[in-house]
Amino acid sequence: MDLAPDPDERGCECPADARIARHFDAKASERSDDGWETGLIAVSQRLSDALMSLDPTGKTVLEPGCGRGGLLLGLVQAGAAAATGVDLSSAAIDAARDRFEHSQLSEWADFSVGDAARVPLERHDWVILDRVICCYPDVEQLLANTLPAAREIYAFTVPTSRGWRGAIARLDWWIDDVWNTFRGRPCPGYVHDLDLIEKRLDSAGFRLRHRDHQRFWHIAVYERLAA
Ligand SMILES: C[S@@+](CC[C@H](N)C(=O)[O-])C[C@H]1O[C@@H](n2cnc3c(N)ncnc32)[C@H](O)[C@@H]1O
Repeated sequence: MDLAPDPDERGCECPADARIARHFDAKASERSDDGWETGLIAVSQRLSDALMSLDPTGKTVLEPGCGRGGLLLGLVQAGAAAATGVDLSSAAIDAARDRFEHSQLSEWADFSVGDAARVPLERHDWVILDRVICCYPDVEQLLANTLPAAREIYAFTVPTSRGWRGAIARLDWWIDDVWNTFRGRPCPGYVHDLDLIEKRLDSAGFRLRHRDHQRFWHIAVYERLAA
């Protein structure tokens, strides 16, 4: 019988997906007791504030790596027309669905388990990647698959790779990696080159609309230039 190899034994082709899913499944379960009302962490709150200032009313929003859906929920509560979340972690997607159901907003949301770097993504007005790019090894592929899905706005948060903040981010990611490996749920994080990310946005026809930082996090909102 032809058995599919264990995801972790497929060499370097795509072991990251299984590791990311396992890591965030465990994290989502740990947090399931927190309830739905826990606020966003500081960097996500800053991004959310920037997005709210653009007025989400009537916008369709896609969040690759949506996690437990907190950011999307806020946008729908503020008037977004539809929220789509895709995540590698099925536990996070279950939590996001529960959260929307609890808020009686399920009909505005569509959640699915998948790799946002590979699955076909429909076009949405806004595309948001909050603390996701730094989980994924192949930043080029993730950008190549998600950028065309953004009709108007592409927003993201990443650890900066520049200056002293970049040095702290790399150290922090390294400590996290050692800790996660030690407790048996390895999931390396990546401080990807911010210059490269900005170049890809530029080539895809976006220009910077808003930039901010929170500790070593870089927060950016881009808008698509008219064709
Ligand atoms: C640090 S969490 C952030 C979750 C949420 N965006 C937030 O800020 O609360 C990263 C999430 O991205 C997901 N993720 C990472 N790479 C992904 C990919 N290629 N496709 C879909 N989800 C991904 C992980 O499963 C995880 O839920």
